[in-house]
Amino acid sequence: MEESKSLRVVNKDLVVEENATELLEAQAHIFSHIYSYVNSGALKCAAQLGILETIHSHGKPMPLSHLVSSLPVHHSKAPFVYRIMRILVHAGFFRLEKIDGEEEGYVLTLASKLLLKDNPFTMAPFLPVILHPILTSLWDPLSTWFQNDDPTPFDTAHGMKFWDYTVLHPDISQKFNESMASDARLATRMVIERCKGVFEGLESLVDVGGGTGTMAKAIAKEFPSMECTVFDQPHVVADLQGSNNLKYVGGDMFDSIPSAEAVLLKSVLHDWTDEECVRILERCKHAIGTRNGSKGKVIIVEMMISENDDEVDQVSTQAKLCFDMMMMTMFNGKERSEKEWAQIISGAGFKNYKISHLLGFRSVIEVFP
Ligand SMILES: C[S@@+](CC[C@H](N)C(=O)[O-])C[C@H]1O[C@@H](n2cnc3c(N)ncnc32)[C@H](O)[C@@H]1O
Repeated sequence: MEESKSLRVVNKDLVVEENATELLEAQAHIFSHIYSYVNSGALKCAAQLGILETIHSHGKPMPLSHLVSSLPVHHSKAPFVYRIMRILVHAGFFRLEKIDGEEEGYVLTLASKLLLKDNPFTMAPFLPVILHPILTSLWDPLSTWFQNDDPTPFDTAHGMKFWDYTVLHPDISQKFNESMASDARLATRMVIERCKGVFEGLESLVDVGGGTGTMAKAIAKEFPSMECTVFDQPHVVADLQGSNNLKYVGGDMFDSIPSAEAVLLKSVLHDWTDEECVRILERCKHAIGTRNGSKGKVIIVEMMISENDDEVDQVSTQAKLCFDMMMMTMFNGKERSEKEWAQIISGAGFKNYKISHLLGFRSVIEVFP
């Protein structure tokens, strides 16, 4: 029987004639989108069971039977391991390779290698914090938040701001700082490799909202004559020890920022509204002042949202849009387009800026008074 080319969908208000194939594709698109949290859940589970480390330490393609017997899973659950592996192969976290003859075994891909706990650039610390119920629970009250006057969905779900929550829950604060530090390790390597000139010749630098100091420590090591300061909330830096050319200072960036020739802001401004960013940048402008005749600068490391839907790199675009939603739900912050960056930069009284798109889905913006 010949397949029908079009379907006639009729209900009380709607009469649409569509190609049957397109309708079915649209349905698959909906299911794939609705179920997209399944991908992150499966990845978190694989990491918790130690599947990545187990395959890595095997050193060659690992057959399913061997993988199953090496994992801490109850014997009644052994048949289910294949299911987790199948979806994660599809998602690009594992690959099947031939061993000898017909037998196949799992190997890691670059993405799963980046999730190994002892990889120097590991992203593993992101899984327990971004997929922690305190953050996954923000999506349920999202529409409620749109209808009330709470500042963020985080406030709607937990009754307080994220930063206040971290003060009351040191375990979450620690997980969050570890995830930030892991991101900063890869970003720092890229910044030093690709944008070294941005830091060359600077006598001093303060990393505002620098967390536990991953980036500032690497910069201090790379430029031993630069005086570096990590400035963050008092509870974040309280127990941290500096070194020769690196010190930790606790405080509130909305009150005042220690003075230096340059201020670094990595992944800080996206946590805040435009008005708050202008206030932070005004404090930065005051901090860099005019030192030894040289006008300082602010170095911003952040994402830049494309003005148009970026067809070139859909994976980066999706990651940026997800970050934007996370910033909205956690902080009432946002990822910004160049136009939006230009507005807050000039709003804080700076005259010029220069952008380098050299860091994958992040950019470096040098801002001059
Ligand atoms: C998203 S994290 C970025 C950390 C680090 N720059 C990085 O990229 O790894 C934002 C940082 O801002 C700090 N922060 C939040 N409010 C602050 C304030 N009022 N004054 C100083 N630091 C603050 C947080 O403690 C946190 O370490």
